[in-house]
Amino acid sequence: MSSARSLSRDDVHSLGLTGRDFLRELDFTPLELHSLIELAARLKALRADGQEPQFLQGKNLAAIFEKTSTRTRISFDVAMKNQGGSTTFLDASSSQIGHKESPADTARVLSRIFDAIEYRGSGQHIVTELAEYSDVPVYNGLTDEWHPTQMLADFLTMREHARDPDRLTYCYLGDARSNMGNSLLIMGAIMGSDVRIIAPQSLWPDKDVIAAANQAATQSGAMITVSDNPQEGVPGAEFIHTDVWVSMGEAKERWAERIELLRPYQVNPELMSMAGAHTKFMHCLPAYHDTKTQVGADIARDFNFPEGVEVTRSVFDSPANIAFDQAENRMHTIKAILVSTLA
Ligand code: CP
Ligand code: NVA
Repeated sequence: MSSARSLSRDDVHSLGLTGRDFLRELDFTPLELHSLIELAARLKALRADGQEPQFLQGKNLAAIFEKTSTRTRISFDVAMKNQGGSTTFLDASSSQIGHKESPADTARVLSRIFDAIEYRGSGQHIVTELAEYSDVPVYNGLTDEWHPTQMLADFLTMREHARDPDRLTYCYLGDARSNMGNSLLIMGAIMGSDVRIIAPQSLWPDKDVIAAANQAATQSGAMITVSDNPQEGVPGAEFIHTDVWVSMGEAKERWAERIELLRPYQVNPELMSMAGAHTKFMHCLPAYHDTKTQVGADIARDFNFPEGVEVTRSVFDSPANIAFDQAENRMHTIKAILVSTLA
């Protein structure tokens, strides 16, 4: 690439990602993922200097949100605007998607009119079907199984704070068989990280996901730990990650059993001290860290959790919390995906 102070269309094309879908981390080589993170860092720096070049004038994105979103939605929207393009949002209640029209037909219609399609919803098979029938790039904005755009933001953020950006050491605690647990395991395995997944065994990633991570680690030199014992993952972790204990699309009735299972995995001051004096806290957000949300208040009342659920108020409000850097980086990294595939 040219100097850090400029970025040309040729630089972007040299990444070789034009026209690619972004569905899951396993579809990319370590070099491609590194390039996307590097491109995001370049775009972030150029924007901060008032020097951001626009590569997406006249491009239109269709953004489908079958599940709710704040960060992912605004990141796609603002990234497209910054780059001179536009976004049209679609959801199940105000369009035919899901109930009246299949993913295949939706993809065939949208790709006649738009330059790219984003999808957030339930099954990974839906975003895969959209991609199969689309003539334009399709991006996964979160499914039950994977959250790959979040991974680029998490890795950019860890690189910005790490002692050694090329060898990240992090631990995820909580519901590890959902999108965030799966994605943090696989991304770390591909990128050569020391990745520790700590959860009760019934909430571990599926055995196929663990096998894929172990396979990727043989190529990358990653160290993979999957355990139910915080002592085996927390000490020495430079970053502690967690996520909500009940994800979008799951029944409210799940809370009682999850709280029972996950109480020992709450990120609280004792757990942070077990990690290390300089350890940072990360969360994809939204987080239940106090009683200022309806769910946070209900759980505090019904289960005696007055200080937060998956993370305590004291950790969330401490200088160790870098979740808002992580949230900002959603926009820069999503912009890198858009630019690299559409410029
Ligand atoms: N982290 C994340 O995906 O946030 P949203 O659900 O607000 O998009
Ligand atoms: N696991 C969470 C992530 C939210 C960004 C969910 O799917 O609700």
